[in-house]
Amino acid sequence: MPGVLPQTGGETVLALETSCDETAAAVVRGTGEILANVVSSQIAVHRPHGGVVPELASREHNLAMVPVVRRALEESRVQLRDLHLIAATAGPGLASSLLIGNTAGKTLALSLGVPFYAVNHLEGHLLSPFIGEADGVQSGVGLIVSGGHTMLVELRGVGDYRLLGATRDDAAGEAFDKGAKLLGLPYPGGPEMDRRARFGDACAFDFPRSMVDSGDHDFSFSGLKTSLRYLLDKLGAEEWESRLNDLCASYQAAIVEILTRKALAAVRSTGLPRLAVSGGVSRNSALRESLASACREAGVDLRMAPAEMATDNAAMIGYAALLKYRSGQPASDLSLDIDPNLPLPLSVEGP
Ligand code: KG4
Ligand code: ZN
Repeated sequence: MPGVLPQTGGETVLALETSCDETAAAVVRGTGEILANVVSSQIAVHRPHGGVVPELASREHNLAMVPVVRRALEESRVQLRDLHLIAATAGPGLASSLLIGNTAGKTLALSLGVPFYAVNHLEGHLLSPFIGEADGVQSGVGLIVSGGHTMLVELRGVGDYRLLGATRDDAAGEAFDKGAKLLGLPYPGGPEMDRRARFGDACAFDFPRSMVDSGDHDFSFSGLKTSLRYLLDKLGAEEWESRLNDLCASYQAAIVEILTRKALAAVRSTGLPRLAVSGGVSRNSALRESLASACREAGVDLRMAPAEMATDNAAMIGYAALLKYRSGQPASDLSLDIDPNLPLPLSVEGP
């Protein structure tokens, strides 16, 4: 099947994403025109458990998959027979969740007789700041900040990635979610902390900025939640509850400062003119402001994934698949498995 279609740039892809707790389907055309981007969230199912329960997630994906695909087709006014490609996330993520979208995608591709592209979730995030941009994917430093990953990548073009650094322990999203849990906020904690922080004093409490001057491009966030736990013990229940917004603002400020300083240092050290930011944490309002002002000051071109394509979505999977297809990469073998630990494919190993 690979190579049977003329690579004209007008192809339409149906993409599926089920790596964690969002069931998502999108229809993307050409060089990144989003015709539909449907996301069905499972937050209400997992909230009583304080985090994602894998078995519940896969069962919810199984229930939501067909309605979500139907909605994406209806919204885009595209019929199954009009599709040129099918794409689905192959990893990283929860195995039982990945299997639902991946199997649905392969089945559709087989029955329609069109190529199937298995897409790396991290590559989807990495390229998402360029979706719909007239100039396409541009070289720069990629900052991926999500619930499972925090990494800095030298991005030279589609498929040309060098890892600069990554977190040694918790991801930035985990730091938000674990900190919020300690503060008694509902899951997922990141958006809730963001909301409360707007009403708090970011200088009220001093949290560590681990590895901010480490001279490399790695991160460490696990000490942050430990210092929050000690602080909460010291303050006592009554005081910390009355100062919840200040605690959120101060804790968030530490994450934001670390991410901003390390991202700008990576841009400086590579000499690249651009910073491309993606992943759920890039929805954080304080981070967006901090990166915008730091990049303005340093003369760095900042590209951020649009809010609805920062958290998990299928539009970024469809976009990555179209770019692969158009650059002549062969379609994926339908016998390939998913991989919960799939790493970002690197063209150059090591920093
Ligand atoms: O990219 P994503 O949807 O899923 C993964 O690939 O992990 O990212 C989810 C993460 C969660 O940790 C969530 O708390 C965080 O993104 N997040 C935020 C905000 N919105 C989502 N963190 C801070 N502020 C936000 N506004
Ligand atoms: Zn993600």
